[in-house]
Amino acid sequence: MSETVSPDQISQQLESIGQGHLARHAEALDAEARGAFYEQLAALDLGEISRLIESNTTSHTPETVPSDLRPADVISLGDGSREPAKHTGEALIRAGKAACFTVAGGQGSRLGYDGPKGCFPTSCATGKPLFRIFAEGILGTQRRHDVTIPWYIMTSPLNHDATVAFFEQHEHFGLDPAAVRFFPQGVMPSFDKDSGKLLLAQPGVLATNPDGHGGSFKALRVSGALDDMKQRGVEHLSYFQVDNPHARPVDPVFLGLHASSPDSSGQFSSKMVAKAVWNEKVGVFCVGDGKTQVIEYSDLPEDLAKQTDASGALAFNAGSVAIHAIGVGFIDKVTGDDAFALPFHRAIKKVPFVDPETGQRHEPSEPNAIKLERFVFDGIPIAERSIVVETDRLEEFAPVKNATGTDSIESSRALQTERSARWLEANGVPVPRRENGSVDAVIEISPLTAQDADELGEHDLPDAIDPGSTVTL
Ligand code: UTP
Repeated sequence: MSETVSPDQISQQLESIGQGHLARHAEALDAEARGAFYEQLAALDLGEISRLIESNTTSHTPETVPSDLRPADVISLGDGSREPAKHTGEALIRAGKAACFTVAGGQGSRLGYDGPKGCFPTSCATGKPLFRIFAEGILGTQRRHDVTIPWYIMTSPLNHDATVAFFEQHEHFGLDPAAVRFFPQGVMPSFDKDSGKLLLAQPGVLATNPDGHGGSFKALRVSGALDDMKQRGVEHLSYFQVDNPHARPVDPVFLGLHASSPDSSGQFSSKMVAKAVWNEKVGVFCVGDGKTQVIEYSDLPEDLAKQTDASGALAFNAGSVAIHAIGVGFIDKVTGDDAFALPFHRAIKKVPFVDPETGQRHEPSEPNAIKLERFVFDGIPIAERSIVVETDRLEEFAPVKNATGTDSIESSRALQTERSARWLEANGVPVPRRENGSVDAVIEISPLTAQDADELGEHDLPDAIDPGSTVTL
């Protein structure tokens, strides 16, 4: 909707799309609040939002999967192309053609932490925040290759200022501030899951949610981050989520495979781990309609999810860990087309809201609202050819999603220690273990020291680890 649309026209349009409660609410606001409310409404494409509400409430149909769906081909851990790819990847890094891209705009509602998730104390011994862990990984790679690696961080309007302030407060963790660039993603209004009515976060303010990690495509372009990459000569992005402290910010092997594997178009590549169980809550790499794609765990039919191959292993076992390599030219090409848009998916979540008539605040105990989000992996089928590269689960996946239980801070810290122990043992350092095999110590290895077992081997290491001790290296 253009800026010249009058409040009356907006009110009429709200009535015509079944959102008259907002027009009536506006009338009850004082002049200043009303002006701000209309401004928020004018920035929305109400016609498009009305269509999206319709297709995600009354006429919602469950997502279907292609009838010819099969597991995606995977470049396995033992594949001989990995060693030469490492040299290609390192050359790209040294030439300044690689940058990091972290999506950190999520609301982290499951974790329940009051602040951007990247600020959450996460490392197992010293409680370093996620942002510091990644910064140290980037610094470590910069030092190794004598290069500056730009870091692009997508925030949301809800956490942008707090994120930037955190980096400033910590002097960008030793990185060059000029090479760390933040940009906010867009938002979508949230609406009641049954009535489709748009919700208010507070009187005169619509309830909104960040538009998903897939909002990054558009945000990269409109924020100018894409231009910045082109100016710097960056050709490939190492994409990872803010909630996985084991994500290696820049992996030369993966970058090399992405850029040079004959099966890759250098546009959009992905890492996978073998699924832990058939119903693990991760997307699965598949091929359907001739295209590599991720099928959400909730959309993969149960019979396929349980299917096994001749060896008894899960057939559809390529679980996504949300680590990708994406070509800058690819982002430039697809977002340069005005008609380009990734699809929206709906998530039913708890969204607090105020009643537009009484102003009373509601804190729902059950999911009450629909949030619409775009998924970055919907970019995969748009690529000409897309590779899926196997990685070791412990090496690269220790997500912090929940406050307790699976994928929680507790499970992530245990995995961090386990990975450190593995690296030490690989270098001949005995690690004390309990009867059940778990490590009887807390061991944190800074990414500045090492980002894999080989790098750890370059250091003087302790002769042994004392049972029950806390060790930082
Ligand atoms: P999740 O899907 O885990 O969502 O995000 P979330 O919002 O962080 O957490 P919950 O569901 O509310 O508990 C996966 C990654 O994608 C980013 C997150 O910051 C995280 O790195 N993300 C998610 C965005 O950048 N923007 C979004 O709109 C959603």
